[in-house]
Amino acid sequence: MTGTRDTSAKTTAEIRAHFPILNETVHGRPLVFLDSAASSQKPDVVIEAMRDAAYHQYANIHRGLHWMSERTTEAYERVRHDVARLLNAPDHREIVFTRNSTEAINLVAHSFGCMLKPGQAVLISELEHHANIVPWLMLRDRAGIDLRVAPINAAGDIDLDAYEALLSDGKVALVAITHMSNVLGTLTPARKLTEIAHAYGARILLDGSQSVVHRRIDVQELGADFFTFTGHKLYGPTGIGVLWGKMELLDAMPPFMGGGDMIQNVSFERATWAHVPHKFEAGTPAILETIGLGAAVRFVESIGYDAISRHEAELTSYALEKMRGINSLSVLGAPEERGGVISFLMDGAHPHDLATLLDQLGIAIRAGQHCAEPLVRRLGVQATARASFGIYTTTDEIDTFIEGLERARMMLT
Ligand code: ALA
Repeated sequence: MTGTRDTSAKTTAEIRAHFPILNETVHGRPLVFLDSAASSQKPDVVIEAMRDAAYHQYANIHRGLHWMSERTTEAYERVRHDVARLLNAPDHREIVFTRNSTEAINLVAHSFGCMLKPGQAVLISELEHHANIVPWLMLRDRAGIDLRVAPINAAGDIDLDAYEALLSDGKVALVAITHMSNVLGTLTPARKLTEIAHAYGARILLDGSQSVVHRRIDVQELGADFFTFTGHKLYGPTGIGVLWGKMELLDAMPPFMGGGDMIQNVSFERATWAHVPHKFEAGTPAILETIGLGAAVRFVESIGYDAISRHEAELTSYALEKMRGINSLSVLGAPEERGGVISFLMDGAHPHDLATLLDQLGIAIRAGQHCAEPLVRRLGVQATARASFGIYTTTDEIDTFIEGLERARMMLT
């Protein structure tokens, strides 16, 4: 199977034409949506794919012997192939559908976690989202494992020497680490992290919730053992996420949840499990949302990751340069490699007030702890303001944002 190919060079205007919501006004101003890291907007092809399925071709899957069920099963299973192609996974059966990245990480914490013994350890980093902290705290408390945390440096990059030192006693069974920070935008050196983890006998999970939106992912080239992402950040619907895992691991892991569709046989004495991936997909899944995810994947492929990464790199440097020109504004972190996510502070202005004031101008940013409280505290603050970009973001929107920040500075500081 080949990796994702860049097939066209669409202009940003052509891309924007696929997003009806971008024509909305907020408080009488054109919407400037700079909160894509929280959840991205949806292109017409995703909305239509879900609508068409609901209108014309929908039934429960894997169960019926009738036409509607068979066609819907085909549409659902086709998305497994779409996602495998997107990630360059060697086998489409290694794609497990979950509700989101959080559920995918919980699945690994439960099912891989069941195989760990007291005294073994899981290693995360200071960059993590709560979704990649709390499941491991729960596992620690349940299974008596040790939870270790790799520190970051002042720039917001993982301290690789400290990371290696934490692995060096050979007790770490799993590294679970973000591939891109949702707060600082740091793109972590995933290949290097993987090589080091493997050298000490640890498996590695990459939380790709942010990275898959900005960068081509090739799980074979990364060499990771697990990769997770969520549909709603990748221009797809909510309620659908993905766990990719190496077949040998998924095969060895016990199920996460029990119910219909994940079994071979059931009696009142025992149950036997279906094969991977169905072993991990208990109950009726998010059928329409999975179909929507397939449309999102094909939409992203039609733009191509070369164009996506280039566009976001240009926007990010444009925004950073303009933001540096604003008195009393400071950008948090200066990682070696970053995606289109910028956290910042304005002296004398609370991030929430900043976000509220920008909202009055039609500009949507996020403010708070971004579901990463330990990281925000590590940065020495209570909250940050955050602007994040998508494939539809324009430099004109960044200009409007900068004007909004200047206005906020005059009003709030
Ligand atoms: N994890 C999402 C964010 O970063 C919700 O905003």
